[in-house]
Amino acid sequence: MKLSLFGQKFAGKSGIVELMDDLGSALNENPEMIFMGGGNPGRLPELEAVFQQRLEAIMADPAQRHSLFGIYQSPQGDREFRKQIAGFLKQQFGWNLSEHNIAVSNGSQSAFFVLFNMLAGAMPDGTSRAIHLPLAPEYIGYADAGLSEHFFNATRPSIELLDDHLFKYHVDFSQLKPGEETAALCVSRPTNPTGNVLTDDEVAHLDEIARERGIPLIIDGAYGLPFPNILFTEASPHWNDNTVLVLSLSKLGLPGVRTGIVVAREEIVRAFTNANTIVSLACGTLGPALARALFDSGEIRTLTRDYVTPFYRERSLQAVAWFREALGDLPWHVHKPEGAIFLWLWFDGLPISSQELYQRLKRRGVLIVPGHNFFVGMHDDWRHRQECIRVSYARDSETVRRGIGIIAEEVQRAYEGN
Ligand SMILES: Cc1ncc(COP(=O)(O)O)c(C=O)c1O
Repeated sequence: MKLSLFGQKFAGKSGIVELMDDLGSALNENPEMIFMGGGNPGRLPELEAVFQQRLEAIMADPAQRHSLFGIYQSPQGDREFRKQIAGFLKQQFGWNLSEHNIAVSNGSQSAFFVLFNMLAGAMPDGTSRAIHLPLAPEYIGYADAGLSEHFFNATRPSIELLDDHLFKYHVDFSQLKPGEETAALCVSRPTNPTGNVLTDDEVAHLDEIARERGIPLIIDGAYGLPFPNILFTEASPHWNDNTVLVLSLSKLGLPGVRTGIVVAREEIVRAFTNANTIVSLACGTLGPALARALFDSGEIRTLTRDYVTPFYRERSLQAVAWFREALGDLPWHVHKPEGAIFLWLWFDGLPISSQELYQRLKRRGVLIVPGHNFFVGMHDDWRHRQECIRVSYARDSETVRRGIGIIAEEVQRAYEGN
């Protein structure tokens, strides 16, 4: 088959595709694998019950059932759902928006693909623009999302060492210098993979820089504010007409229904919708149908506050405590868990690369993600990039505990030179 340039880039072997293939085949070969690698959310019975009841009610009503299965939804998404989301955000945070500021997508991943390529890449004047990631490491799913080469660049973070083996990345504003070629700034908040939550000051500063340059600030709220609210630290939601806030229903427990939500000024939402029509034709109906009532009643706030946030907070505390016990005085650090569903571990001076550690752990029946994959847009030879791994703690506690024990054994072995 003769592939186009697009075909070569997207149908070929990119880093993320290879990694996902490898994780997938490892799981197929050994279903007993302790899977601490992916972004699957944990199972919360309370939320599952809410979605089940909602689905049963829809199925019992022929009219609702027909609008769930039998119609093409508009490419911008169900109007009622967009109104409810806009109303909810306006009422909660006083943001000046309406349904015209909201677009629904088939998962936030596809929204990023459209948004990024709408803003960056080859420009009509022959120049090219890149998406800047102010705080590397960043979400692996951005890598390879650009239609052209050199699509991302990133700023190396500053590192604050804290007590008890904790550390925290900060945006290094002294190094953050977006130029003419910068199309937008993009941050995930909380950050996948680190669990960092950018402070309100950092967000305000990024907002200021973006405005000065006349470029949008994209905030990926897949884990964040205001829902699913997987945050263990105080932070305020942020939006204004220069911000593109991208939300998702996935981490509420609905990754299978593929629902992303873009909140942006009307001009951006219109452009996004046009592109989404070409790519997707229509938006899925299931996510909006399941979640609509939660926004209308405001129940989304209590559900996240009472169940989602505490579930992951407890998990993260427990996982860190187990790592402390298992790794003892080795020269290891864990990023202060402030949100999301992962721990980001840094093994200072580890004699083997994170890729080798990943391979060894895979042989021991534990899947994690080697850290170098997350330094999207960074091309230097910073050793730190080879010293980190991402570990999910969303699975049941017993599995997480066993996985942590095995990770600690392999890390110890590596430090001993074996
Ligand atoms: C930071 C971040 N952004 C976006 C996504 C994409 O999520 P979805 O396409 O399920 O909405 C993920 C998925 O894990 C993520 O971790």
